[in-house]
Amino acid sequence: MPTDFDFDVDPRTLRHPDNFKWTRYPADVLPLWIADMDYPIAPGIERALKDRVTRSIGYHHYQGDPRLTEQLRRKVEADGITGLPEQGWVSYIAGVVPGLYAAVVSLTDPGDDVITMTPIYPPFLSAITDHGRNLRAAKLACTPTGWEIDWDALEAAVTPKTKLLLFCHPHNPTGRVWTEAELRRLAEFVERHNLFIASDELHADLTLDGTHIPFVQLASEALKQRCVTLIGPCKAYNTAGLGIGAMVSHSPQLLLRIRRGIAGISAWATALSVTMWQAALEDDGQWLKAVIDYLRENRNLVETFVNERLPGVVHVAPQATYLAWFDYRSHRRAADIQQYLLEEGKVALNDGAMFGAGFQGFVRLNFATGRTILTEALERLARVH
Ligand SMILES: Cc1ncc(COP(=O)(O)O)c(C=O)c1O
Repeated sequence: MPTDFDFDVDPRTLRHPDNFKWTRYPADVLPLWIADMDYPIAPGIERALKDRVTRSIGYHHYQGDPRLTEQLRRKVEADGITGLPEQGWVSYIAGVVPGLYAAVVSLTDPGDDVITMTPIYPPFLSAITDHGRNLRAAKLACTPTGWEIDWDALEAAVTPKTKLLLFCHPHNPTGRVWTEAELRRLAEFVERHNLFIASDELHADLTLDGTHIPFVQLASEALKQRCVTLIGPCKAYNTAGLGIGAMVSHSPQLLLRIRRGIAGISAWATALSVTMWQAALEDDGQWLKAVIDYLRENRNLVETFVNERLPGVVHVAPQATYLAWFDYRSHRRAADIQQYLLEEGKVALNDGAMFGAGFQGFVRLNFATGRTILTEALERLARVH
């Protein structure tokens, strides 16, 4: 359906020095790797940023802009996170990845064990290991109907030293939006083992099918005190270069503890990022709706193409995100599939091996690009299949 927005972008406008995604690889490669969208930002955000630089980019309310806090409160409540205390329920940070690191260093000690479910967005792994915590990886199960939590693997991952679970919902790279039943069972698991949980819900606004339910909404009152939800605008609004996120919790004490663990080390969110998030939250929603509709069609195109033209590649269409996770393990070049597709196919994808032990042979494709580019990239994959 035609919209006011043209997302069928021209590669010539994308390949410029400020664009890491489009300049990391040689000019004959189509870059469908890092999680940026190739679309121009929402017009309302562009206007707000231009306006802001003409006024002031000096020191600002770096400990929490009151207008943003008010807007965000309305958003998180509308999204289903209710019952938050009046004060101390949010703490801003320079991105969601810093929030993952902050949770690890503040809620665990060196030598403790931290669980996450793999495959997983690589900073979940480094957040655990970079500061001397032990990674306890619980592999997801790939069933004929899609990726699921492997409850036995999760139980087996728990040790007496396990303090924290880093959870991803919606999940990068599989695109799973966990169901109410799964979230309830996970809440029971986390509570039974007396863990903390940091739930990264950065992709929630990019849910393509069904409804995203925040994890904390299904936690008991006691568990809510041990839960931090990490949110941000950068995936839905394509503004990752500005760096801002928020840690949300029913427990001001928990947020203070996390904040103290990174005091003076992690930067505050910048003035421009605050303006950007404010503009996103007061946008009329037309741009985001058009993006989601476009992504859904791209998602469907990828699914059809893989089924018809890439025999042997296993792929379950994502319910959220703009990321497709391909299992190429039966391919003759499974041992170096990312390199093979880059060198022979001239398509840059993310290497599955980075997403946890046991995921060599997988690749992640970012379909948030123009349909012409996406079609050409898929054709290239088929040509070297
Ligand atoms: C699940 C997830 N968390 C965090 C991030 C990065 O967040 P930020 O740039 O706000 O640190 C990404 C980026 O793709 C992501 O997919």
